[in-house]
Amino acid sequence: MNRSEINAHIRDAISLFSRLSFHLPPFAFWTPEYWRTAGPEVNEIRDNFLGWDVTDYGLGRFAETGLLLFTIRNGNFTRKDTYPKGYAEKIMVVRENQITPWHYHWNKREDIINRGGGELVLELFLADDKNGFSDKTFSVSVDGVQRRMKPGASVILRPGESICLEPYVYHTFYGRAGGAPVMVGEVSDVNDDANDNCFLDKLGRFPDIIEDEPPLHLLCTEYPRPE
Ligand SMILES: [Fe+2]
Repeated sequence: MNRSEINAHIRDAISLFSRLSFHLPPFAFWTPEYWRTAGPEVNEIRDNFLGWDVTDYGLGRFAETGLLLFTIRNGNFTRKDTYPKGYAEKIMVVRENQITPWHYHWNKREDIINRGGGELVLELFLADDKNGFSDKTFSVSVDGVQRRMKPGASVILRPGESICLEPYVYHTFYGRAGGAPVMVGEVSDVNDDANDNCFLDKLGRFPDIIEDEPPLHLLCTEYPRPE
């Protein structure tokens, strides 16, 4: 992705969150210059990949397959002594027909929440033991109400609604056609992008970036460390 494109998506997200009265923490607005002077006191942000995350999954077609996320809080599986937190929270922007590709998690249980804007469509399967789609029916909890699902069935979340995605439930999601961008929340177990995402197709989790202008805000994978 071009850095100019990433900057524009971050600007758009800040303006959508503001319109929908969702307030980001201060580190969302730190500049690259500020990061160069930040010391070990901000290691929780560095070590747990908090902050901006804009990805096209390495495909170069962000509008069709992409996601903008801001990780507000997270723990750390490999450094539990330092970071014992057992939960994570994210806020995301999902646009009309913008797909987050099929994946599931071995460990993470995640609630996906429509926090405002348009409608969010999720399609679901149970994973089989070869990382494919199972033909079994299964149940999901939609705001505390059990719903029986056929393989590949959809759930549509309107603002305020949420679904609990258990481990091994394959999911893909996108904003409903003809609708506004969706502000999507996630409340989950600890998020471990390195070890707990099973994508149906081989995909990159983070984009390759072409530096065509300076970054507005650093992505969560880009924070410098003190010397
Ligand atoms: Fe997921």
